[in-house]
Order: sequence, then C-alpha cells, then structure tokens
Amino acid sequence: MPHAHLRLASTIRCQSLDAPAPFEVWCAELDRWPTPTELGWLSADEHRRARAFAFERDRRRFLTAHVALRAVLAGHLGVAASALEFERGEFGKPRLRSSGLQFNLSHGEDLALIALTGADTGVGVDVEQPRPVNDLRALAQALFTENEQRQVFAETGAGVTRAFFTCWTRKEACLKAVGWGLSVEPASIDVGATADPVELLVRSGERVARVVVRSLPPSHGAIVALAQAAPSVNTIALSGRPWRQPSISSIGAS
Ligand SMILES: CC(C)(COP(=O)(O)OP(=O)(O)OC[C@H]1O[C@@H](n2cnc3c(N)ncnc32)[C@H](O)[C@@H]1OP(=O)(O)O)[C@@H](O)C(=O)NCCC(=O)NCCS
Repeated sequence: MPHAHLRLASTIRCQSLDAPAPFEVWCAELDRWPTPTELGWLSADEHRRARAFAFERDRRRFLTAHVALRAVLAGHLGVAASALEFERGEFGKPRLRSSGLQFNLSHGEDLALIALTGADTGVGVDVEQPRPVNDLRALAQALFTENEQRQVFAETGAGVTRAFFTCWTRKEACLKAVGWGLSVEPASIDVGATADPVELLVRSGERVARVVVRSLPPSHGAIVALAQAAPSVNTIALSGRPWRQPSISSIGAS
C-alpha cells in the first residue's frame, strides 16, 4: 500500500481478453490536506488547476485526489511520485507520458476512486454519492435508454435514486474508458440500471469500442462503476469476434 490514507477497494481479473487484464481500484479519502512533501509532487499545471477552485473544500479535494493518483501510479511504476508526467488524449483523457499503464480517476465529494490496469485496455471509473435529484425524471428521459428508464422507475422510494446513479455511473465509466468524453451520446449506450456486468458497443462517429461495465460494491455509501474497453477496438468490434464477459476471480472490497 503506497500510503496510509489509500485503500485497495477491489481487485478484478478479466480473463477473457487477449491479454489478461487485472484491475486495481484504489479508494482515497479526501477529507484531509496533503502534507507539504506531497504538495511538492504536483506539477505546476496541477497547482494552477487547484488555485482555480473558488472554494477551499474543492481545492483540498482536488489536491488530495491528485496526490493519491500520483502515489498509486508511482507505487506501480517504482518511480518517484514527482517524476510522473501527464498528457491528455484527443478528448482530454489524462495519460502518462512515458508509460502504457492505463488509469482513470473519479471524484465523489470526499472520496476519489482510482482504477488502473497494466494491459492495453482503456479503463474508466465513476463514483457518485447518491443524493436527491429534482429533475431526475427529465434527466433520465434525456440521457437513459427506454430499458434503463424502465429499470430505474421499477424501483420505489430511495431505490429510484440509487438505480438512477447506478445507471449514471455506468454510463460515465463507459465514456471514460473509451476516453471520447461527451462525443458519445449517453442515450446511445444501454448499460442498465442494475449492478450486473453488461457488454456493449460504444460508438462515436466512425469509432467503435467493445466495453464491459460493471458496478462495484458500494464504498463509503457511494455508487461506483468500472468499465474496460477492449484493445484495438475498431478491429475487434468490426470483426465480430466474440468477446465473453470477464469473470471476476476476486473482489476484495474492504
Ligand atoms: C469529464 C468527464 C469525463 C467526467 O466528469 P465527472 O463525472 O464530472 O468527473 P469525475 O470525477 O468522474 O472524473 C474527472 C476525472 O476524469 C478524468 N478525465 C478527464 N477527461 C476525461 C476523458 N475524456 N476521459 C476519461 N477520463 C477523463 C480526469 O482525471 C478528471 O480528473 P481531474 O479533473 O481531477 O483531472 C465527462 O464525462 C463529463 O464532463 N461528464 C459530464 C456529466 C454528464 O453529462 N454525464 C452524462 C452521463 S449520464
């Protein structure tokens, strides 16, 4: 474990890909300020982004999440946390400049989730704290498929909100795994509103990716989804090669 304030939330091994793709999902609590040493790890760009937050609480969460991200990645690569250099893909997905290690970060109030895999597969993670949503029905109608809306509104009471955020996090995780951001129409992917693993195609213009998304056991009451995009997505998707759902060999939620 790279740091005392980081926990390993889940380890998932996806065995059906060409290259086995074990995931790690780390969970960091953001209710503390980084130490001066940890702040020294961050780049000028990370400090600039932190300064742009109007509220101190948001600045703290951003800084602590980025310290945690660096701690996890540096621990894996065996390098100093301050030595990591990031760049962004076409739609803004952060990646490491000199390593193929795939990772993704999500913030949810005082919690950050960090997913990583060494395989050549895009990974996306999303965390949301369930909360009342005034325009929930209108949002679901705008962003969810008919199947997803049916699943959400089959629930009652607080179950509706949980199903809404289950579906929302699964969509976000898929979009983050492929890294195409909101160039993917959210209602064009049917991820479901239950925790079950679902395999689907994600499209953006000419691009197609095969993605598996699943919900993870709740962490600190938050709803978490994790998605994995197949490597060489166009070739695999267009060849129609079967891609079985990964089996979970271990989930060690702590
Ligand atoms: C930016 C986006 C990728 C996720 O945003 P989000 O859910 O608000 O925020 P999260 O905390 O989960 O993720 C933010 C992190 O994702 C990473 N990220 C940024 N752009 C990304 C991209 N294109 N692909 C994958 N990851 C990305 C960054 O590490 C970012 O952290 P940072 O800002 O501290 O550097 C994007 O999907 C978005 O703007 N969504 C808006 C919400 C929406 O309309 N969703 C519809 C789905 S139902």
